[in-house]
Amino acid sequence: MCGIIGYSGPLEAKNILLEGLAQLEYRGYDSAGIACFDTRSAVQVVKRTGKVAALKEACASMLRHSHCGIGHTRWATHGGVSDTNAHPHRAGRVTLIHNGIIENYHSLTKRFSLESRLVSQTDSEVAAWLLDAFYTGDPYSAVRQLAECVRGSYGFCIMFDDRPGEIYGIRSVSPLVAAYTRSGALVASDLTALIPYTRKYFVVPENHIVKLTGYKISLYDLDGNAVLPEIMEVNWNMDAAMKNGFPHFMLKEIHEQPEALKNTILPRMTKGLPDFTDDQIPDEIFTECAQIHVVACGTAMHAGMVARALMEPVLRIPVMVSIASEFRYEEPLIDEKTLVIIISQSGETIDTLAALRLAKSCGSKTLAIVNVKGSTIARESDYVLYTHAGPEIAVASTKAYSVQLAALYMTSCRMALVRGKFTREQAAAFLAGLLDAIPAMETMIRQKDTERELVTHLIQQNDTFFMGRGLDYAFSLEGALKLKEISYIHAEAYAAGELKHGTIALIAPEVPVIAIATQEHVFSKMISNVREVKARGAFVILLTKEHARVDEGLADIHIKIPDLDDRFTVFPIAVILQLIAYYASIGKNLDVDQPRNLAKSVTVE
Ligand code: F6R
Repeated sequence: MCGIIGYSGPLEAKNILLEGLAQLEYRGYDSAGIACFDTRSAVQVVKRTGKVAALKEACASMLRHSHCGIGHTRWATHGGVSDTNAHPHRAGRVTLIHNGIIENYHSLTKRFSLESRLVSQTDSEVAAWLLDAFYTGDPYSAVRQLAECVRGSYGFCIMFDDRPGEIYGIRSVSPLVAAYTRSGALVASDLTALIPYTRKYFVVPENHIVKLTGYKISLYDLDGNAVLPEIMEVNWNMDAAMKNGFPHFMLKEIHEQPEALKNTILPRMTKGLPDFTDDQIPDEIFTECAQIHVVACGTAMHAGMVARALMEPVLRIPVMVSIASEFRYEEPLIDEKTLVIIISQSGETIDTLAALRLAKSCGSKTLAIVNVKGSTIARESDYVLYTHAGPEIAVASTKAYSVQLAALYMTSCRMALVRGKFTREQAAAFLAGLLDAIPAMETMIRQKDTERELVTHLIQQNDTFFMGRGLDYAFSLEGALKLKEISYIHAEAYAAGELKHGTIALIAPEVPVIAIATQEHVFSKMISNVREVKARGAFVILLTKEHARVDEGLADIHIKIPDLDDRFTVFPIAVILQLIAYYASIGKNLDVDQPRNLAKSVTVE
């Protein structure tokens, strides 16, 4: 979850590290720190609780003229948020930053009698002391010994006092990418920190040691053999990772959705039909499966819920959706006849990755829907369908959700076609319907003032309820999550018919209920449910299609989306729900892009 960066080269290291940390801040923002070799080749550390801006201020007049250093922005796991627990950690001759969790740090502390040395409460400091104990002048041997004894996930960047200008890195599960550029050598947890300097990079393979100096990067396996890195190229530029005039990344990313959808859908259409030839996804994985299991976390899992509601009625095979952190421990009923669809924006979420590995070990075919190219999930899955949203920086996922849906809709259409559930005409009509959703999203983005105004009521309340039936229920789940995570208003989503089995007790005068009613076949039932909450005084925000007729006074606010085929209403509805959450967060004067306690990429269990 933390952001890490290392630099060695001709430029001022402090500036590169601070700029990199600002790019990586969305991975964690409890505290930040940097360590650099100074002009006398001694290591100097500055670390502070708070955001990178606080660190920048703290080291304004320090660490000048350094050309090698490491930096870290933290999401606390072990040990509270404090200056001491912030990284980098110093231990004897070692300076270290860490992204991940060392599970056996307690036993290592005992085994190596480190209790009296530790000044922080972190697992990471234990790794630093171990390295110091193992170091006899050979960094590779020390790093190798560290890798042999720690269990868990890690991306480490390490400096040794007697090796100025050198940085060593190793990873297991947690991501680490590196590049040699005209400005020097860089290593980071995330591409966004490298993009200002290069478009070419490589993913540090797990259990390999990367060494950076000012003029070169070398890669070795744990036996000491030099390994040629597999160079990759990013398909987006720095603009994509900047706000470009928008006040927040989240608003920018909401606006980017129509384009992201086109980028994800259009290259995969041939003669109006879905075509995964360029993705090298064979139709056999679709024709030979007897069931589908979708596994993901958070918003990505909500995209899976929509896919289930869409796919099962068409494909007529069981489609299950699991929360990755549960799936991995519940002995799921999957086998070689199961297609496991893994969804992840980052491609690094640890529970989702573990679920993928479990699915493969059961002989299931795995198809990953991933946004970040070259990420661990993308590399380990049998097949990958990349979404082309570009970097998503706001912690709250918006465009990644829409493109995940688009990829799932295309998968569903291809499956229906090759399994004989859709004729070519039906498949073409389905894709045309999907494309129609794009202008509908644009319309809702243009009308964003509606959401800006309606939140005035919402932000005065402690709770909000979302409800819908069928696909609308699946959309509600995401609406509630979005509102919770950035406005801190408690929100729950309910299948509308379920409300009166308990939850309706919570509906009191003025309690906001966001009712989504875009599914024709359950429309009248849904409206009855809206009447039930209205009768108890709820403040109803009703979302329907344009043509829907509802009684005067039923809704306090009625937002209409363009008339679309029921299957595609999620796209404009998603925009409305995202904007409600966005403006509620603004209305409460909160940090939209970096909400409390959260981080973008969840690489710890
Ligand atoms: C919420 C959000 C999270 C992620 C979840 C999975 O806005 O972004 O719920 O969807 O942490 O992350 P990925 O998709 O990277 O696996």
